[in-house]
Amino acid sequence: MRIEFQDRLAVVTGASSGIGLALCAALLQRGARVLAMSRSLGGLQGLQESYPERLFWHAGDVTSSEDLASLRLRAEQLGPVDYLVPNAGIAELADSLDLAAFDRQWAVNGAGALNTLAALRDVLASPCSVVFIGSFLTRSSFPGLAAYIASKAALGAQARTIAVEFAPRGVRVNLVSPGPTATAIWGSLGLSDEQLGQVADSVAQRLLPGHFLDAAAVASVILFQLSAGARGVYGQDWVVDNGYTLS
Ligand SMILES: NC(=O)c1ccc[n+]([C@@H]2O[C@H](COP(=O)([O-])OP(=O)(O)OC[C@H]3O[C@@H](n4cnc5c(N)ncnc54)[C@H](OP(=O)(O)O)[C@@H]3O)[C@@H](O)[C@H]2O)c1
Repeated sequence: MRIEFQDRLAVVTGASSGIGLALCAALLQRGARVLAMSRSLGGLQGLQESYPERLFWHAGDVTSSEDLASLRLRAEQLGPVDYLVPNAGIAELADSLDLAAFDRQWAVNGAGALNTLAALRDVLASPCSVVFIGSFLTRSSFPGLAAYIASKAALGAQARTIAVEFAPRGVRVNLVSPGPTATAIWGSLGLSDEQLGQVADSVAQRLLPGHFLDAAAVASVILFQLSAGARGVYGQDWVVDNGYTLS
């Protein structure tokens, strides 16, 4: 019997930090080969030292069709692709009526994720599991993040129908929607340390354990969604949010 994840190929975008990095670490610990894409090497450097023969870093931007085409060539050499997690994402505080902010965030969070699947569609294994990354905020609201939330909601809507379309070729498509997770994305919002502290405190009040998720807690749910243990799950959106959306 084949051991789950052993020698299988996973493609993870947004792999240099946060949730993507934690997922790469979890996959590598379980014996998988990982083709990791991001614009910078970031935290992958440490993993490269531990897993030089199974971690393949592909420098690239998910908004670039050339970079996605070269990712596909690399995946073809290493493939087929057993697991795909188009995780790259950005968040930007903006006026909710500033539609240019939607375009910028959709380019990475939505189009970037969907174009990653499009680039790799012919090199996917059967069976294969694809997990898109949504957000807890699609069930809530957050002043200044309307465009971010909309980009994730639209991605979720696309994913549900894609799940039906890809199922006949042995490809399961789902979403995992993280809640407030302690990663660099919060620091990229452009808030001062004081403002960020205030936001973090008010968010944490809604979290049942009283603190943000760590990236590994989100990665472990993605990992299960990738595994054969979730083989009966199609087109679902699993929220892992320390209870934020319950209140
Ligand atoms: N943290 C949270 O509270 C939270 C909540 C809900 C959903 N999420 C989602 O979780 C996912 C991971 O975010 P995170 O929290 O782990 O944030 P993060 O630590 O900031 O990681 C974002 C990753 O995306 C990569 N990235 C950004 N733009 C890219 C581009 N154009 N092309 C390729 N890679 C790009 C970054 O690497 P480079 O800069 O090196 O390219 C980085 O590796 C995102 O989709 C985010 O929206 C996070």
